[in-house]
Amino acid sequence: MKRSIVCRCEDISEEDVIHAIDEGYTDIEELRKKLRIGMGPCQGRVCIQIVARILEKKTGKKVATTPLPTVRPPIIPVSLGTLASENDEK
Ligand code: FES
Repeated sequence: MKRSIVCRCEDISEEDVIHAIDEGYTDIEELRKKLRIGMGPCQGRVCIQIVARILEKKTGKKVATTPLPTVRPPIIPVSLGTLASENDEK
């Protein structure tokens, strides 16, 4: 069976989203917490609008009135050497 992936970062399919909506998760924030949509490396740039359209189609809510999550910048990477050097100072 072919799956339509809507969130590549978290491997979430359209069917997963529809099933969650049927379970009662009816806004983006609830879907985000249940399925981890928008929490991958792209921070939802790819999937949030797609999920919003599925939600609009299933519930009749307008996308513009659906609160979209804020985009957070990625955490600055810290090298293992930096972390190890902090242990040496203690
Ligand atoms: S595609 Fe959903 S978080 Fe990246």
